[in-house]
Amino acid sequence: MIRDTRNVIKTRRSVRAFDGRPLEKDDLERLRTFLETVENPYGLPVTFRFLDGKELGLSSPVVSGSELFLGAKIGQAPHFEEAFGYSFETVVLYAWSLGIGTVWIGGTMKRESFERAMELAPGERMPCVTPLGYPAKRMSVKETLMRRGVGADRRQPFETLFFDGGTDRPLTGEKAGMLRDALEAVRLAPSAVNKQPWRCVVDGNAVHFYEKQTRGYISEATGDLQKVDLGIALCHFDLAARESGLSPRFTISDPSREMPADMIYIATFVIE
Ligand SMILES: Cc1cc2nc3c(=O)[nH]c(=O)nc-3n(C[C@H](O)[C@H](O)[C@H](O)COP(=O)(O)O)c2cc1C
Repeated sequence: MIRDTRNVIKTRRSVRAFDGRPLEKDDLERLRTFLETVENPYGLPVTFRFLDGKELGLSSPVVSGSELFLGAKIGQAPHFEEAFGYSFETVVLYAWSLGIGTVWIGGTMKRESFERAMELAPGERMPCVTPLGYPAKRMSVKETLMRRGVGADRRQPFETLFFDGGTDRPLTGEKAGMLRDALEAVRLAPSAVNKQPWRCVVDGNAVHFYEKQTRGYISEATGDLQKVDLGIALCHFDLAARESGLSPRFTISDPSREMPADMIYIATFVIE
């Protein structure tokens, strides 16, 4: 169980520079126990594995000061990307609540070595991995430059991401009412290259999630990375809504609205 989810979501950032200390035994054990409880609303199992970078010859050019990685794999069923995003982000948030840093890595790694270490079976996919460790006191130059390059500290305004009934009606924080905190948790989510492809249309007690697709994020190895981003957004919404005392029910039922061509329906939470 993650405590004070909204605060964890608010304070989390990607960590690429670690302080070199291995994870403490207790933290590792807590993580191990937590991994056994991780679920997603698609009911697709995600298999996690701790990977010793030194032993297995694994590294990422953006990571320093940590040799431990967490790999994860999933069978390539419909919606596997969203399911993976939801489950993996649950772990990212839990790790942060313990003071452990992570960074989603889908691109900047030697993928073949990681996939070999994860022993991918035919039909299995490993969209992303993360290093695990304690954040260094100061960010590395590389990390600072990377953050600057993608504007990692910035997010789109509420009214650009969320809509009231239709995409011609932006939703303000004030108008979002009881959904405000849960939508704010979506807004703060991490995404590949900080593209923030999540869009939500609020319609009565339903919140429909859409992917605003950008070219260049789909590959055989990862599937659609922006669908992974959507899974992360669903995770943030679900956890924050529950913490607000709401009971979100997950469903996939496209309301078939007329939407811009680049916006693809993903899923809905109905607030009961
Ligand atoms: C699906 C996904 C893939 C990512 N892949 C990489 C990557 O390959 N290398 C990297 O340095 N960061 C990667 N990131 C991290 C994002 O750049 C980062 O989350 C974003 O810039 C926002 O910064 P923040 O996480 O500090 O809030 C990825 C994030 C996501 C969600």
